[in-house]
Amino acid sequence: MTRPRLYSGMQPSADSLQVGNYIGALLQWRDLQDAYEAFFSVVDLHALTQPNDPAELREKTRRTAAQYIAAGIEPSRSTLYVQSHVRAHAELAWILSTITGFGEANRMTQFKDKSARYGTDQTNVGLFTYPVLMAADILLYQTDIVPVGDDQKQHVELTRDLAERFNARYGAAFTVPIPVIQKETARIYDLQNPTAKMSKSAESDAGVLWLLDDPAVSAKKVMRAVTDSEGTVRYDRESKPGVSNLLTIYAALTGRQIPSIEDEYAGRGYGDFKKGLAEVVVNEFGPVRERALDLLADPGELDRVLASNADRAAEVADATLSDVYDRVGLLRRS
Ligand code: TYM
Repeated sequence: MTRPRLYSGMQPSADSLQVGNYIGALLQWRDLQDAYEAFFSVVDLHALTQPNDPAELREKTRRTAAQYIAAGIEPSRSTLYVQSHVRAHAELAWILSTITGFGEANRMTQFKDKSARYGTDQTNVGLFTYPVLMAADILLYQTDIVPVGDDQKQHVELTRDLAERFNARYGAAFTVPIPVIQKETARIYDLQNPTAKMSKSAESDAGVLWLLDDPAVSAKKVMRAVTDSEGTVRYDRESKPGVSNLLTIYAALTGRQIPSIEDEYAGRGYGDFKKGLAEVVVNEFGPVRERALDLLADPGELDRVLASNADRAAEVADATLSDVYDRVGLLRRS
């Protein structure tokens, strides 16, 4: 029986993934990989839109792949590969860019945010066309669902628009994908600034929980997380963003419901609650970190796994690209 297809990816933009990546994306990926034929990429071409040291980018790419596996993505069941290993991504991105409106790309809020943050000097054309490359990633695999955090929703909507436009113009080349966003965990916030999204590129490290950090460091960050003066462990996103964020993380990592955690800590202070969460974080990330470091100790083996998975990905991607080339009228090389 053929399973519906799933596609998702992450940028290798730091030495470690952060807990938002883990909860907002990786946990879903892990749970969906049986029911779907899944493709997971490390999107190194996307990472080039920011300044990088070449050797560091290579290392971050391996580290990201190792964390996927350590978190439970199985490269024998799911196709886990590096984006630049499959040439069709860049090629389809070009074709799709020719059917993307300038105004349409200009409406992407992530581009607006990033270009405002970096300033004109650092804002390159790649950052502008970034969502078109992401659309190519997804459409090459005839993807049915795209599990992502809430910040990627607009990009998946653009992908749908491009797929529909292409299909209307040239015939049904692409499956039109749907974004899958877990409402409760779609956005994990910075521990020090709980109204801002937790991000690999945060200015300060104190509010970011890294998967590969020493567990004692993560525990300390949890203990120092910003809360409020009420003293009651209660979910209220509006007036208690810090505590609500900690409750969301607690629930996601334990698979428990927020009310049951509120009950457990009723009448106890934030200190107890944070201690409990610190323990959860250490227990969850400790083994993931160890597995990731083990995998990274043998980069040759990791590279072999990534290469054979890239072959599997390329088979699917090349078939789609070849069909697209025919449909738009590129002359086949004889
Ligand atoms: P990236 O690398 O920024 O993030 C990877 C995934 O983690 C989610 N995420 C979060 N979820 C909840 N709370 C947070 N604080 C948080 N921070 C990040 C993101 O939503 C994402 O799901 N453009 C993408 C990578 C990409 C992609 C793709 C994704 C490229 N091609 C094709 C899906 C399909 C990105 O930069 O994700």
